[in-house]
Amino acid sequence: MSAVTSPSGAVVADTVAGLLAEIAGVGRDPVRGGYSRPVHSAPETELREWFVSHARRRGLEVETDRNGILWAWAPAPGGSRDRAVVTGSHLDSVPGGGAFDGPLGVASALVAFDQLAARDVGGDRARAIAVFPEEEGSRFGVACLGSRLLTGALAPERALALKDAEGRTFAEVARAGGLEPERFGPDPTLLGSLDTFLELHVEQGRSLVDLGRPVAVASSILGHGRWRLSLTGEGNHAGTTLMADRRDPMVAAARLVVRIRDLARTVPGARATVGRLTPVPGGTNVIASHVDLWLDLRHPEDGVTAALVEEIRVMAGVLAADEGCAVTMSEESFSATVDFDPAMREELLTVLPGAPVLGTGAGHDAGVLKDHVRTGMLFVRNPTGVSHSPAEMVEDADAEAGAAALTESLELLLRN
Ligand code: GLV
Ligand code: MN
Ligand code: MN
Repeated sequence: MSAVTSPSGAVVADTVAGLLAEIAGVGRDPVRGGYSRPVHSAPETELREWFVSHARRRGLEVETDRNGILWAWAPAPGGSRDRAVVTGSHLDSVPGGGAFDGPLGVASALVAFDQLAARDVGGDRARAIAVFPEEEGSRFGVACLGSRLLTGALAPERALALKDAEGRTFAEVARAGGLEPERFGPDPTLLGSLDTFLELHVEQGRSLVDLGRPVAVASSILGHGRWRLSLTGEGNHAGTTLMADRRDPMVAAARLVVRIRDLARTVPGARATVGRLTPVPGGTNVIASHVDLWLDLRHPEDGVTAALVEEIRVMAGVLAADEGCAVTMSEESFSATVDFDPAMREELLTVLPGAPVLGTGAGHDAGVLKDHVRTGMLFVRNPTGVSHSPAEMVEDADAEAGAAALTESLELLLRN
């Protein structure tokens, strides 16, 4: 452990870099590089235990709520959790992700709580650190699963039926992880006790590098969604099936990937990605019988996103038919464009003077909570500008600057 302790044994100060160094070996992916920490996997469970031990050392009251969100509470004197100011982020990762997407916000939250305690401020108001499960949706397909369940943005029946790549349901995996899936669902009482949520996150682009600043305040999140396209053809032998006789969904999928890219290029502000494609059965000498392809589509205007989805649906039908295949397309999740509360943004800028105000193309639990709780975000400079990749980076000094900015912000929010 990296903490500096006082003579009484109380934690005086961890550093963000020191905390992240403690988990640097957890969930490394020897094949993809970087980290693979899917929800309820051994590495993600280890990270949650790591967080719990740090929270308990600080005397915080740790609980996992009915939706699997971890909370570490410092109630107000008398034990009230009302009007709580909350910070936090997530500990799961994309496959082969970086070290900072999620953990930076969690480690910074611990350090900010240390700094508030050291200054002896904010103690008359409830505060908490939250760790949200399956923020990336990398195991069950729907991002921000914990916050969507908490807020009612996702029906528990739908969440429970989601399957991972091995065909295990979320219900099954969550139960094995110690949760009670029958209790999943909106929690208006918990939600009602939250006054403010402020999430600190690594910047996932290069704006802060270009501006020469370590920390920004968030203005917006680009609307985004995920769609699954399932193409069905005829599985057959690679050597004995004449080219004219094939119904190959892989060919239709390949043509579709290119056409989606071409379409998105014609629409200013659009971002379309096919980052995952699964042929069944997936043999070198086998014509696939089936291909699943996942589309990630983002645009600032939700109406444009909807129109693009319809265009892609038609395009997929035509390309599939050209190859003698069939296709279905279904929405897995959608999050409308989010504009964070301008008043809160202005408030944060009073303690972070000169901090740039930036929008982001990445999704966050803060975007889901925003309709229910006063919500904002801070971004910390990423010198590579790369994210969802092992190349994601934060310099130690910037990580500490981020934690200091979070402390200042929480102190202000706790006062108001
Ligand atoms: C999560 O980081 C996303 O934007 O998909
Ligand atoms: Mn994230
Ligand atoms: Mn991410």
